[in-house]
Amino acid sequence: MVEVTVCVGSSCHMKGSYQVIQTFQQIIKERGLENKVALKASFCMGRCLTGISMAVDGEPIEHVGFANAADVFYEHVLPKIEED
Ligand code: FES
Repeated sequence: MVEVTVCVGSSCHMKGSYQVIQTFQQIIKERGLENKVALKASFCMGRCLTGISMAVDGEPIEHVGFANAADVFYEHVLPKIEED
């Protein structure tokens, strides 16, 4: 199980973290990955200035925005699922 955490603190929320979560949920559903990805929301992760904060298995991912959310998923989450 790959753990994906997306910050929904106020700064990240303003930048569109809800859309990021929705994009991830959509990809997870389309690809039938419900049993492979644990998608979680987090309060402020302490990195409010680096785009929307998220982490994959505890590893911070930077420069996330709602516009590149799908790319981030394919680049950072999918390879982890394949490793598992
Ligand atoms: S609000 Fe997301 S890191 Fe602070």
